[in-house]
Amino acid sequence: MVYASQPETGLSKKITIQSLRKLKSQGEKFVSVSLYDAPMAAMAERCGVEVVLVGDSLGMTVLGYDSTIPVTMEQMIYHIEAVARGNRKSLIIGDLPFMTYATPEQAMVNATRVMQAGAHMVKIEGGRWLAPVVTMLSERGIPVCAHIGLTPQSVYKFGGFRVQGRTPESAAILLEDALILERAGADIVLFECVPADLARKATASLEVPTIGIGAGRDTDAQVLVINDILGLTEQPPKFSKNFLAETGTIKGALLRYTADVKTGIFPGDEHIFT
Ligand code: KIV
Repeated sequence: MVYASQPETGLSKKITIQSLRKLKSQGEKFVSVSLYDAPMAAMAERCGVEVVLVGDSLGMTVLGYDSTIPVTMEQMIYHIEAVARGNRKSLIIGDLPFMTYATPEQAMVNATRVMQAGAHMVKIEGGRWLAPVVTMLSERGIPVCAHIGLTPQSVYKFGGFRVQGRTPESAAILLEDALILERAGADIVLFECVPADLARKATASLEVPTIGIGAGRDTDAQVLVINDILGLTEQPPKFSKNFLAETGTIKGALLRYTADVKTGIFPGDEHIFT
């Protein structure tokens, strides 16, 4: 069924870290999509997506690998450049791939490449051990999104794509990690696959905005992978939703996703881990 016209809500101005902080302070949700090419990046801008993530999920969604581990710097750069050519107003976050930020010095070199490719912020996965890396980048002017919870680059350590922070002890460690990473200089903390309660507490405790995926509805923003939004994933994760199925067009799907995040309709109870 084609969804009745959803107004186009294109971004009126360039999104910055300050705009995101302002939205958080006003209690207004913002929207993020992980995507990988110029036309989709342009469509996201026209549909009001404030944050575009060029995620290393592209290893699985575009390149056919069964994890993000094989993704290289060259592949990330190629896709970040394409996205940056297609989108002028969203804040673009570029992932640093597996083992490219194991030391602060290595992170510096690789984050520089990601920023020069057109990203406005880099995303790195990990807990408190990342603090020196975050500080190194942040002090030198590179904004950082710290990704915690289910960090897919550690899939073999976790033994699968599993929800994290389910026990009181592990939830307390994740909450402390988030605070440590904020103190180290992170500008955004992204929570993947954690109980809603943990993400809610963290969002209330952190000054910087939070983005959630499979982290309940109380983070400051939601992110989904474009393939999931468009129903391209054979076995979609519980936290995702095929918005194309109910709207009939790519633009309709992105507009509906944006509207549903902003109004708190998405995620629904069925998408949330408790
Ligand atoms: O790589 C990616 O797309 C991500 C999101 C799923 C958060 O990290």
